[in-house]
Amino acid sequence: MRKMSFLLMLVLLVGGLFACSNSQSTSTSTNKTEEKKEEVASEPIVIKFSHVTAPDSPKGKAADLFKQLVEERTNGKVKVEVYPSSQLFDDDKAIQELPRNTVQLIAPSTTKLVSYDPAFQIVDMPFLFTSDEAVYKFWDGEGGQILSQKLEKYNIKVLAMWANGEKHFTNSKRPLKKPEDFKGLKFRTQTGKVLDEQFAALGASAVPMGFSEVYVALQQGTVDGQENTFNNIDTQGYAEVQKYLTVSGHGRLDYLLLTNTKFWDILPEDVRKTLEEVIAEVTEQQRKWSEELNRESYEKLKASGMEVYELTKEDIEAFQKAMQPVYDKFADSIGQDLIELAKKANE
Ligand code: LMR
Repeated sequence: MRKMSFLLMLVLLVGGLFACSNSQSTSTSTNKTEEKKEEVASEPIVIKFSHVTAPDSPKGKAADLFKQLVEERTNGKVKVEVYPSSQLFDDDKAIQELPRNTVQLIAPSTTKLVSYDPAFQIVDMPFLFTSDEAVYKFWDGEGGQILSQKLEKYNIKVLAMWANGEKHFTNSKRPLKKPEDFKGLKFRTQTGKVLDEQFAALGASAVPMGFSEVYVALQQGTVDGQENTFNNIDTQGYAEVQKYLTVSGHGRLDYLLLTNTKFWDILPEDVRKTLEEVIAEVTEQQRKWSEELNRESYEKLKASGMEVYELTKEDIEAFQKAMQPVYDKFADSIGQDLIELAKKANE
């Protein structure tokens, strides 16, 4: 009997001690989780924003304004790191990295999204869009919606369309006034079959290449020319290595501001709301900068010593005729519906 009660006491004692130490360790781990939660909440959310143009380009200035406004308005909850001039990634790499969340914001030229869907080459259809307003109307409306949906399955969300404007030709060999003048020349292109065909239709060839490599390729004569906006031609210093500028406005170079959908969806509600408000504000300013800075850059290029030729109405008609094969080959893969929406936006 005595033996039994001794054993019982022993069991109760050991059990009590175990329960005590167990509850202690549970409360310690609860404290740790709480601490961790606090730590996470007090750590800023970091947004890496990678782009390829100069800080004083319309895109570069907009990225910096976005950083400034977001950091001011979230009281340190969000930190934006802007990497201009391909410092972090070139466009192709950035487009691959975004769905992996190694970068949270990018603003590539819409052409570069051809790796996701050929319809993004609509901007390269020769002489399709006739004004900045038409471009804004297209992207802010049904055209933009149709194209944005094409990125959803890749975990990419379109936040806004930013502008840079019309493309023009430069080259180092001769003035380009008529389609025949392009024969045998090599042009750097961003990417895509539409641009390959555009130059093939002119008897020239296309050499796709990352933006950061273009200056050296022009300087070393790897290519004879390229096509870009006044502001990119100016801020990249192409006037130093290209003698001739043809003002053609034959295609567009605009951007989509993109984020990683999963990253975006788990942001705290108030933060996401602030970011959306800032994006709306910056987008308005970005488009104004695009118009203003391109006008200023054109004046600078004229003063730089480049020989400038502005295509006349008749010249443009000759180019439209020469470039018709681009429509014959690609209108279907880009989508007649999108081409019609672009034409409607011109009205
Ligand atoms: C280019 O590669 O020429 C452009 O996409 C660069 C840019 O972002 O304006």
